[in-house]
Amino acid sequence: MGKVTDSIHGHGHSDEYGSVVPPIYLSTPFRQVIEANSSDRGFDLKYSREENPTVRYLERVLAKLEDGVDALATNNGMAAISTALISILRSGSRLILPAEVYGTTLGLALNMEKYGVKTTVTMPETEDLAEAIKANSGSVAVIETLTNPTLRVIDVDYLIKVAKDNNSIVIIDNTMATPVLYRPISHGAEIVIHSATKYISGHNDVLAGAVIASSNSVIEEMWQWRRRLGTIIQPLEAYLVLRGVKTMNLRVRKHCENAMAVADYLSNHPKVKEVYYPGLKQSPYHELASRMFNGLYGGIVSFKIKGGREEVRLFLNSLKTINPAPSFGGPESLIMYPITSAAQPIPDEYKAKLGIDESLLRLSVGLEDVEDIIEDLDNALRQIP
Ligand SMILES: Cc1ncc(COP(=O)(O)O)c(C=O)c1O
Repeated sequence: MGKVTDSIHGHGHSDEYGSVVPPIYLSTPFRQVIEANSSDRGFDLKYSREENPTVRYLERVLAKLEDGVDALATNNGMAAISTALISILRSGSRLILPAEVYGTTLGLALNMEKYGVKTTVTMPETEDLAEAIKANSGSVAVIETLTNPTLRVIDVDYLIKVAKDNNSIVIIDNTMATPVLYRPISHGAEIVIHSATKYISGHNDVLAGAVIASSNSVIEEMWQWRRRLGTIIQPLEAYLVLRGVKTMNLRVRKHCENAMAVADYLSNHPKVKEVYYPGLKQSPYHELASRMFNGLYGGIVSFKIKGGREEVRLFLNSLKTINPAPSFGGPESLIMYPITSAAQPIPDEYKAKLGIDESLLRLSVGLEDVEDIIEDLDNALRQIP
C-alpha cells in the first residue's frame, strides 16, 4: 500500500453495517466478566484510559505512515514526549538536547534534573549533537528533524548511526517535517514522536500527539506509562485526527509549495533583513534538505524584518489574512513572535547565538491562495517606516 492509501484506509476498520468511516467509541468501560477482551495487539480492552477502539484505528494509521511496528496516540504532543521520556529515562540517565528544540520540551528536560536525570544542551547542529552523543555513551538524545524557529536541518541519518555506535537512543520529534518529507524509522530510528496537533490533524482544531516505535517492546513499556500517566488521547479527538490525516499528504505538499513562494517573495523585500527557509538555494541547509526531504522543504518560513519590537507590533497589527497566533500546520496561515512565545524558554546565551532576536518572526504558511498571503505580507510590510 502507498502512504496516501494508508492514511485513508490504514485504520483497518470494518463492521457488520458496512460503515466506511470508523466509529467513535465513547464507552469508557468495556465488558469484563473475569478476563477482559483484548485489543488487536493483545492488551486488555477494558477501560478507555488504557485502550480504546477508535484510538487503535488512529494508531494503526500513524504506525503505517511512520514505518513503525505500532504507535501510541496521546492527548497532545507534550504528552507523547513526557510519556516517552519517563518510560526511557532512569535516575542518572543523560539526556542530550539541542538548544533549539520546542521550548516546553527543553523545559521538561531541564526540570527532570530533580529526578536525577542529567542534561546536556548543545547548539542545534548535527556535529554538536554528534559530539555530545560520542562523549556520553548510553545517552538519550531528543532532536527535531527541522528546528524551529530558525529552520536548521539536522542530519538525522548520521545521528542515528552515531547513536547506535555509542549505545545511545535518538528520539526524533518529526512534527515539523512530517512523514511526507522524512520517515526516521525507515532510516534506522527507534522512536518518533509527533505533535499531531500540527500537520497530522492539520486543521488547527484538535490537540493530539503520538509515539511511534520500531519495536513492540518499546511500545509495551510506553503503553504501561501512558496508562499510569493517563496520557491517552480521547476518542473524539482520535476521530478528528483520523479525519484530518487522510488529506495530510495533499495538504503538506501545498503548504510546501506556498511556503516556497512566500520565501522567494520575502527574500527580495527591502524591509526584510533575512529569510530562513531550507528551500532557498542560499540556505546553508539547502543541500542537506534536498537530500533528505525529496524536494520538499516544509511549510514554515521564518524571517527578520528591519526593526525591533515596535516595528513587529505594527507589522502584526496590519495583517488581515494571516493570524498572529502560535502553533502551525493548519489551513489558516499563522504568524508568531518566537522571542515571547515558543522560543522564550531557550536560554538567552543560545538565543543570541541562534539569532533569535526581536526582529524574528515565524510564519506557518497556510493553504490560502498564495497570492493573498503575499498581498497581506506586502501590505503589512509597507506599514513599517
Ligand atoms: C516541534 C514540537 N513538538 C512538540 C510540541 C508540543 O505539542 P502539543 O502542543 O501538541 O503538546 C510542539 C508544539 O508546538 C512542537 O512545535
